[in-house]
Amino acid sequence: MTRGAKILLALALLAGAGWLFWQMRGPAPVSDSERAMARRLSLISLPPLPPDPSNAVADDPRAAALGEALFNDTGFSSNGAVACATCHQPDKQFQDGLPLGRGLGTTARRTMPLAGVARDAWFFWDGRADSLWAQALGPVESAVEHDFTRAEVARRIAAEYRAPYEALFGPLPDLPETGPASPLGSESARARWAALAPAQQQAINRIFANFAKSIAAYERTIAPQETRFDRFAAGDAGALSPEELRGFRLFVGKAHCVNCHNGPRMSDDFFHNTGVKSPHTPPTDHGRAGALARVASDPFNCLGPYSDAAPEDCAELRYMARDPAPFERAFKTPSLRGVAGRAPYMHAGQIRTLSGVVEHYNRAIPGPSGHMELSPLNLTSGEKAALVAFLKAL
Ligand code: HEC
Ligand code: HEC
Repeated sequence: MTRGAKILLALALLAGAGWLFWQMRGPAPVSDSERAMARRLSLISLPPLPPDPSNAVADDPRAAALGEALFNDTGFSSNGAVACATCHQPDKQFQDGLPLGRGLGTTARRTMPLAGVARDAWFFWDGRADSLWAQALGPVESAVEHDFTRAEVARRIAAEYRAPYEALFGPLPDLPETGPASPLGSESARARWAALAPAQQQAINRIFANFAKSIAAYERTIAPQETRFDRFAAGDAGALSPEELRGFRLFVGKAHCVNCHNGPRMSDDFFHNTGVKSPHTPPTDHGRAGALARVASDPFNCLGPYSDAAPEDCAELRYMARDPAPFERAFKTPSLRGVAGRAPYMHAGQIRTLSGVVEHYNRAIPGPSGHMELSPLNLTSGEKAALVAFLKAL
């Protein structure tokens, strides 16, 4: 071998060793500021569950026990087969894995998971309820969910749950035998409701609200579970693989996910238009824009006669932004905890996989209406894979 060839060989060996070293060096160590950011997204930072002044039995274990029974009881439906748990299945993170929920009919949006939901201020994808108990009234009287009426709820409570109910809320009044009756139901149900005296209507509404307050007390006990990411945030650097760590860095950095998915539940509990396509043509769902007037005029809201709150406890509702224009097709930011276990994604299950969701953010194409808040991310395929890997560690 000539001297020149020897030098070349030595150089090649050196370059090879350098390349190998580069490959094996692993990710940069986690910095203090990254650790602090991880802690902010972790259950370590989860404050105690705030009280719900609108619900006097919110933290009464007897109400939670009654609420759990009500949540699972299919008797509160027109065909005797639908309970809250039909769609919010405890072994599936309290959702159903379907693009649209199925009760008596098919819902217009996807079933939402319930872990930690009691911490939010607004409920449903559009936030049209301002408390967990006001939320629980909706599905019962929806024709495609329980297809039941409040008058029937009151009678079933009196027949099947009298003792636990009266222990919490005092003696039940005598109830008229109306059959299905509700101001929101079918034409005949509305006619029966209109035929009731105002005092009877109020008595039924009161029982209906108390039924929902018990369910809310139960839902308050459904807490988010610790994950690998929480162990990482607690200081176990090995809890995330190098690829997941890279995904975390993108999540809080270049991909800006943390702008909306922040805090220990990875949701800002606010409403954003992220350009998600509509499953309906023409698009009929206006998101938060369609909910503002409804929540403001809901007789079961925080300021209404069935709420236990003083007006000063209802700041969220009183200071709610009322102009619908900025909220056109804005939907509630979902929590990302456990997200890998509940495809399909988005408010009507429009996207089947997590890689599809990441691609949606990468492209950032405006949806059918409103102002989309995203810009394209220009992620490489390796970066997209790392983000998906990170989402799976949540
Ligand atoms: C037919 C399926 C179905 C049934 C039955 C059902 N839900 Fe839901 N649930 C949904 C769907 C779909 C949504 C989202 C609806 C929307 O945004 O308009 C939802 C939303 C919710 C939310 C809002 C979560 C959040 O993050 O804002 C809660 C809480 C909830 N349901 C509790 C209940 C309770 C309590 C019952 C029983 C009284 C119930 N659901 C019955 C399908 C169902
Ligand atoms: C501007 C606020 C915003 C930003 C930024 C954002 N998200 Fe979202 N995210 C939302 C909203 C709002 C939804 C629900 C949208 C809908 O259903 O119409 C959502 C939905 C999701 C879902 C589906 C969850 C489910 O249960 O359906 C995933 C996963 C997700 N985002 C991950 C990410 C990732 C990863 C990033 C960064 C690349 C990101 N998000 C950036 C607001 C945001």
